[in-house]
Amino acid sequence: MFFLTTAIDYTNGAPHIGHAYEKVLADVLARWHRAQGTEVYFLTGVDQHGQKVQQSAEQQQISPQDFVDKITKYFVDLCAALDISNDGWAATTDQRHIACVQELLQRLYDEGQLYKKSYKGFYSIRQEQFLTDKERNDAGEFGEEWGEVIELEEENWYFKLSEQAEWLSGFLAANPAHVTPSNRQSDVVNAVAKAKDADLCISRPKQRLHWGIELPFDPDFVCYVWFDALLNYLSFSGYLSSQTSAKELPSFEQTWPQADAKTHSLHVIGKDILVPPHGVYWPCMLHAAGFQDDQIPPLLVHGWWNIKRGEQSEKMSKSLGNVVDPFQLIEQFGLDAVRYYLARDMVTGKDSDFDLERLTVLFNSELANDFGNLANRTLNMLKRFCQSTINWESGDDSLCEKLRQSLQTTVQSYDTAMQEYRLSDALVLLNEQVKHANRFIEEKAPWSLAKITDEPEKTAELARTLSHLAELLVHLAARYEPFLPQACAKLAAQLRIEKLPCIQTSSYQWGFLAQEHECGKPKPIFPRIQQESEEKTAD
Ligand code: MSP
Repeated sequence: MFFLTTAIDYTNGAPHIGHAYEKVLADVLARWHRAQGTEVYFLTGVDQHGQKVQQSAEQQQISPQDFVDKITKYFVDLCAALDISNDGWAATTDQRHIACVQELLQRLYDEGQLYKKSYKGFYSIRQEQFLTDKERNDAGEFGEEWGEVIELEEENWYFKLSEQAEWLSGFLAANPAHVTPSNRQSDVVNAVAKAKDADLCISRPKQRLHWGIELPFDPDFVCYVWFDALLNYLSFSGYLSSQTSAKELPSFEQTWPQADAKTHSLHVIGKDILVPPHGVYWPCMLHAAGFQDDQIPPLLVHGWWNIKRGEQSEKMSKSLGNVVDPFQLIEQFGLDAVRYYLARDMVTGKDSDFDLERLTVLFNSELANDFGNLANRTLNMLKRFCQSTINWESGDDSLCEKLRQSLQTTVQSYDTAMQEYRLSDALVLLNEQVKHANRFIEEKAPWSLAKITDEPEKTAELARTLSHLAELLVHLAARYEPFLPQACAKLAAQLRIEKLPCIQTSSYQWGFLAQEHECGKPKPIFPRIQQESEEKTAD
């Protein structure tokens, strides 16, 4: 079993292309693991508590629950529009989650890992946390990112984070690949020093914030939104579910990594929420709750989609009015183009500038012209010259041999790229293979072979050539499928195959299409996107 999660999205606003990217990245990995025959549990969802939600609901004069229900719908719709294959849905106002969080809080309280104290300091309303001098900028002020900052004195509950810091340092040293990419692991290592000096405030007084999970041992307080949100990974993987009579949750023993090392896991998150929440608080919470080192899920940290203004990259934000709406994009360009662009034009871990022109160019060149054209030409010629029927005519054929070898090399490099989360590289490799196949068609010139009707060797070569191309399409479709599930389903239907082959390198085999297998009719799967310049010319 492979347990995969994304960060859960704040429900205080509609989703943007950054949220869409994270879902697509995780979905590609989930589908890739499934295509290798691995059982996957893929969890995503929404983070519904906290001050910002309470404030937004007050502004709209509706209840917080009505407010989050409304915003949650956008995220549910986004997953459907992106064809995300998640198995579980985490929503933090779900009673099953609340029960799990309360049970865990009670346990930590009973074990003496929580204590109450009074604290006076500066508090960021936007980030819902107390600030220390370390958060001041070079001018000695709290920067814009903290929003409104007020001075506050209040009693709260604290988690003994400092007691976990030494363990976390050792854990990171022993697991240098806990965070990918590795420079992000260094960020966590540096951040652990802060955890040594300060415990984590895990409550908010109800008089100030009522929209949260009540502390089971002190009803005047609710749980800090991050402490609650991080626990979604446990609650929705079935942890403590026997106590909550939870329905439809997976078996925790199957989802979460156990000592038998048969289950692997991965949390996919953006760079902004690594330090401190996922990098520091989360492993410490798990360790305090009794989890072993090999049960702490590794983290894949992706970069951000920004917007280019002149020569500068700027953050997408509502206030700057530069937010890219994923729904609009899908409507305009189609799902395949959006998924392809998001995976293809971002180096996992780095930031990228969102660029509509690149979306169009990449789709038109690599999908419409290269892959789409290869599929169309192959099935067309197979129909015209061989009645759509596979015929593995034998015979020495160096070009066919070269095509098979190059596919084998591509498949191996593709697997390595996918294992290392280099999605863009994996797509470049597939595109090179497609180009190789298009050159192979030019070299073989099946249309010329078809004209020679009185030489049986040429007729055999024609059949062999087109069978090689159809077989290649099967292997390509299986590897493009995690990225382009809908397009590859269409191609599989045109090839008349019920199920694409398993893509485990160890089970790689040439000859998936049986002798006399009959393929179907070709139909373009990637219609070109009209570019503005083309539209003008057409006018
Ligand atoms: N609710 C918290 C996460 C709690 S996880 C226990 C949160 N939500 S968020 O809506 O602000 O962000 C959700 C995810 O989207 C995060 O992983 C974040 O990094 C990612 N992105 C937000 N903006 C992004 C871009 N512009 N580009 C790429 N991903 C971005 O944080």
